[in-house]
Amino acid sequence: MAFPDTRLRRLRYNKIVRHMVTETHLRVEDLVYPLFVCPGTGVKNPISSMPGNYQMSVDVLVEECKRAVLKGVKSVLLFGIPEHKDEHGHVACQSDGIVQKAIRAIKAEVDDILIIADVCNCEYTTHGHCGTIIDNDVDNDSTLKTLADQSVSLAEAGADVIAPSDMMDGRVLRIREALDLAGYEKIPIMSYAAKYASGFYGPFREAAESAPQFGDRSTYQMNPANSDEAMREIAADIEEGADIVMVKPALSYLDIIYRTKHEFEMPTAAYNVSGEFSMVKAAGEKDWIDEKRVMMEVLLSIKRAGADIIITYHALDAADILNGQK
Ligand code: PBG
Ligand code: ZN
Repeated sequence: MAFPDTRLRRLRYNKIVRHMVTETHLRVEDLVYPLFVCPGTGVKNPISSMPGNYQMSVDVLVEECKRAVLKGVKSVLLFGIPEHKDEHGHVACQSDGIVQKAIRAIKAEVDDILIIADVCNCEYTTHGHCGTIIDNDVDNDSTLKTLADQSVSLAEAGADVIAPSDMMDGRVLRIREALDLAGYEKIPIMSYAAKYASGFYGPFREAAESAPQFGDRSTYQMNPANSDEAMREIAADIEEGADIVMVKPALSYLDIIYRTKHEFEMPTAAYNVSGEFSMVKAAGEKDWIDEKRVMMEVLLSIKRAGADIIITYHALDAADILNGQK
């Protein structure tokens, strides 16, 4: 039926009706809060390109986790800034490594929290690439070994979910085998399945001190032009045993999130990455946009596209707003 019988505005006049016909609901439970842990005590270094985010020593990090849980944000994603880096990223596999220490401290002091541990070499290698370098490029198969060792070490420390972000072929399978062999068959893998070679990671690389020292990541991360290829990446990770699949970044890739959710019907995560966060913050600081409003619109759009889980540096600010709405 067309106008004048159908008037779409009829459902928009009354606020209660508007709420009643709202199709997408963002929940605090959907949010994952990424955090950066560094050596020392009492350290809280501001990350200049990501206002409100810090490199935190373990003691400060524990307090931040408590603050998050109080707001209902019960999932955190941990990244480490180690004291020393090495050629192969072996420091990432040590039982007294920075993230391992952080996990033990959080588990000892914070109740009811889910710790997702990022697995990748780039924060731990001197060259800043996501794996072992052979002939000037990241060698796929030798990197799988370090990724598997790192995963087991993080699980031993108490990580609840393992999240590989390296984009090597076959890593989900190798990590799954290694975890199972070590008795961690109950630990889920959330794979960064479709991770694009993106300019939106810029602020993160300052935060994690993980910028590649030569070249870029386009021999392992995906070409932003490709969508079918993302579906192949996701299918492969599911086949290898991924429990949750992730698309990253989120905003310029909402079509990929949509396809992923609809073609695979898997628990789907999206990473609202550092550059996406910083753009909103920067424009908000200049009063060019209403920061809080744009933030909620961004998060809602990611949910509407099909993400069940949203990893975002806005998590605590968004939780304040969502809690206020209750
Ligand atoms: C490392 C990693 C990156 C991010 C998460 N894990 C950066 C990269 O690939 O260089 C980006 C997160 C962000 O920008 O917020 N493998
Ligand atoms: Zn990496």
